[in-house]
Amino acid sequence: MAYSDKVLDHYENPRNVGTLDKNDPSVGTGMVGAPACGDVMKLQIKVNEAGVIEDAKFKTYGCGSAIASSSLVTEWIKGKTLDQVMEIKNSDIAEELALPPVKIHCSVLAEDAIRAAVADLKAKQGNTQEAA
Ligand code: FES
Ligand code: FES
Repeated sequence: MAYSDKVLDHYENPRNVGTLDKNDPSVGTGMVGAPACGDVMKLQIKVNEAGVIEDAKFKTYGCGSAIASSSLVTEWIKGKTLDQVMEIKNSDIAEELALPPVKIHCSVLAEDAIRAAVADLKAKQGNTQEAA
């Protein structure tokens, strides 16, 4: 199976690989696994005071499509609000990267990772407000 040029580009030059401090109250961490293959993706987002994502990092233990999907979404989510990134669909990712049907679950992993990171951040911020 041939990978598209965009997948290869992100695979060879992944954007925003790394980690953010998960104890930072403005950082949300999403860690998800793909039941289909056992691959794991960690996505972290950091929001500013206006609720806009100012930084995003990922670490993915998985195939080229999973790495490309996470690299792509870190680019897409920077500068967006939490509500805006919740609108990103795995089909948008799969389309942008021209993923073949057997690799669709790799883009699902990226969508799940965004949702998990947002949920983690919202839970943290809820706690902070209750404590205040
Ligand atoms: Fe997991 Fe693709 S099956 S690396
Ligand atoms: Fe399983 Fe890509 S995440 S093959």
